[in-house]
Amino acid sequence: MRRIGILTAGGDTPALNATIAGAVHEANRLRIEVIGIIKGFSGLLNPEVPHVELNPLFTPIPELDPTHGGTILGASRDYFDANDTQTMDRVADRLRRLKVEGLVCIGGDGTLSGMQALSHHLPAVLAPKTIDNDLGLNYPDEPNEWVRESAPGSPKGYITRKRPGREFGLDEVVNYVTPGYATAVFESSTGVSRIRTTAESHRRVAIVEVMGRDCGMIALGTAYGQPDLILVPESPVDPDPLVERVLAVLEIQKHAVIVAAEGIVDTEGHIFGSVSASKDPAGNLVYSGAAEAIKELLVDKIGDDYFASRRRGETADAAVFVRKVGHTQRGGRPILFDRFYAAQLGGKAVQILAAGYHNCVATLQYRDGGIRLDSVDANRFRDRWGTIHPRPLSPTFYDPQRFKPSPKGVQYLHSIFTNALGVDDVEALRSIFDTGNIVYPYNSVNVHIHKRIMRIDPAG
Ligand code: F6P
Repeated sequence: MRRIGILTAGGDTPALNATIAGAVHEANRLRIEVIGIIKGFSGLLNPEVPHVELNPLFTPIPELDPTHGGTILGASRDYFDANDTQTMDRVADRLRRLKVEGLVCIGGDGTLSGMQALSHHLPAVLAPKTIDNDLGLNYPDEPNEWVRESAPGSPKGYITRKRPGREFGLDEVVNYVTPGYATAVFESSTGVSRIRTTAESHRRVAIVEVMGRDCGMIALGTAYGQPDLILVPESPVDPDPLVERVLAVLEIQKHAVIVAAEGIVDTEGHIFGSVSASKDPAGNLVYSGAAEAIKELLVDKIGDDYFASRRRGETADAAVFVRKVGHTQRGGRPILFDRFYAAQLGGKAVQILAAGYHNCVATLQYRDGGIRLDSVDANRFRDRWGTIHPRPLSPTFYDPQRFKPSPKGVQYLHSIFTNALGVDDVEALRSIFDTGNIVYPYNSVNVHIHKRIMRIDPAG
């Protein structure tokens, strides 16, 4: 293999450049040229296929900094339909003209589908990333738990449901953790611990919304910020036990901090807050307003008198406040754990391609008390109808009575986060007050990459 392509698709994460850097490092060792496709699948849909040489003369370009968040290649949520054979043929032809003999796609579940569609035309592999930590399986046979039940009134005529899972050991988890997750949890935990002191001082209830779509992994990890309660999508919110727990916490410490995952549902399975369709490769929905909805519930159930009688605000509405961690949890400098494992996965993806395997996923597995590199066939992630489901937070990781991680959840988090932060990460914090920051304009990598972009002749 003399030349491969690489692209970053879907939402950005902090560790994408580290994955690209790991891939380029391995490619240099194997004397393989790496072409970076600009803006994910959108670049392949563009007849000119804007691209950059990432390792001319087998030397990484200086813009490729693994400590810089986001992606120097740009990302998009554009996607192509695998059944649209004309488009697929055109894309394959463009890659042939670029003399690309294999493709590394860096992304989540949507990117996995795109990679698999392309793998009918050229060798392709996935290097995983997603802050949601939902690309994977709790155990290898988990896809068999998904069932379809006839539902005549519903848009598809059926609904999908997951049967209760089985017990599993941590070493059975397929794709143990995805790069981006650790940095997101670092941010969300820091945010929660900062909000805590305001809630504490003003005797208020803070509800902090974190990302993760249908998966409660980020919310679970935010336990490091020591919230009093964590609400995850996999455990429907039952108002009475929630209110009872909040009141118990308020009685003791006069304030409470609640973390709510954006995809939490009520006991009938309806999303709290609102849902809107996004232009996401996997057709994912974007949620908003979960924390607001929990606030409404608490305001309604606890009532003004409770707070007024204790001189903690005139109304419940004033005593309960809502904050979103938002996109700060998806951007910025990746912490050591993400940088290290992202680079390893990028390298592994190149190795897989060079060894002649394809249509598979470079993975991290937990073995003998440590995290190791591995790979699995991409179809292992699909259920019997071919659907890739986000990995749910296992109920065994969460204690719904205490609204906290269970002992097994603690064990899982411990195995990831104990040494996740490097000394250099702490040192990097100091650079925020670099005088250069207030003197010079931001030096965007896009300006430099733009000068390197090449295009093919759309006419062939
Ligand atoms: O999948 C990553 C993610 O950050 C989700 O946690 C979140 O719901 C979504 O992307 C937000 O997408 P956007 O940046 O397009 O609003």
